[in-house]
Amino acid sequence: MIILGIDTSCDETALALLKAEKSKFEILSNVISSQIELHKKYGGVFPALAKREHQKNLPTVFKKTIKNFDPSRIDAISFTYGPGLEPCLWQGINFALDLANNLKKPIIPVNHIEAHILANFIENDISSVQLPALCLVVSGGHTTLFLMEKIGCYKLVGETKDDAAGECFDKVARILDLGYPGGPIISKLAAEFKGEFLSFELPRPMIHQKNYDFSFSGLKTAVLYNYKKQPLKIRKSKNYIREMAFQTQQAIIDVLLHKTLSAAENFKAKTIMLGGGVAANKELRERFKKDIEDRKMTAYMPSKEFCTDNGVMIALTAYLSGKKTTNFKKIKADGNLNISAKI
Ligand code: KG4
Ligand code: ZN
Repeated sequence: MIILGIDTSCDETALALLKAEKSKFEILSNVISSQIELHKKYGGVFPALAKREHQKNLPTVFKKTIKNFDPSRIDAISFTYGPGLEPCLWQGINFALDLANNLKKPIIPVNHIEAHILANFIENDISSVQLPALCLVVSGGHTTLFLMEKIGCYKLVGETKDDAAGECFDKVARILDLGYPGGPIISKLAAEFKGEFLSFELPRPMIHQKNYDFSFSGLKTAVLYNYKKQPLKIRKSKNYIREMAFQTQQAIIDVLLHKTLSAAENFKAKTIMLGGGVAANKELRERFKKDIEDRKMTAYMPSKEFCTDNGVMIALTAYLSGKKTTNFKKIKADGNLNISAKI
């Protein structure tokens, strides 16, 4: 079957066409219109502006997605209905419902967080995954550990009590005046840090607590205090900025890795899966892969392009959930949508 996937949960208008046959998937098209340039000057996503952009971009992105393709061949229309920014979610929902109405096709509403997890199967063979799998979703809005006993069944193991990991990257980048989104910039600057000695220390919040929850707001505050006490000349120096980027990235990865590995051991996970925008981080990917494989578990991570928001993961999740409906009236955006029960 051929599924259209639509994601407008944040600052990307993302549409894709996926052909799915048993556990074989073929991407027919994948189009993303990013609003990053627009939001840069606000240092983060400005919801009213994002909503307007989705509304403006959806028809053009859809046209590109179905270029050289007869839309009547689409078997179902899937879209994110939560979690995310509600005004943005509504744009995707309304577009999908209109389209489904015109084409007389069923719809499949999708949870964005589940889609970040299942993005692991865009390129990895789903039929060979060993369960249970521990899934770490690290994005701009979420830092959550789930235990997946089977596809579609997730138990909440731990989550952030304040800021998400991606949010911490973004806020530190804002403090250092580096632009938005912070993750890719911090990662680039961290790789440029060549210092043998560290000139200060950053905290690893909650790392020694006997639970699987996270907290990143204290780390951001520590960066702010350190930055404020430096003389202007140091603050603006390349060395200082590179070291701060390096240390922030190390602190975030240390906490993510420590909590994930102890949860994996406790719940006897056979596989660990990463997902969400922060999973595109090079250092995180390398350290995770090494540490997981050293412990004789299998590490899954989507390729970088499928870590950040995209329509392919939405269509794939829709296919795997199989929850087709023609009852359009019940659909509404849910900014805080859950996928799990607390373990
Ligand atoms: O999953 P995503 O595209 O959108 C949400 O659902 O939130 O994640 C966006 C987040 C941003 O906070 C961004 O800074 C972070 O992912 N990110 C990264 C990298 N690329 C994107 N963080 C660290 N390293 C990266 N290379
Ligand atoms: Zn996302």
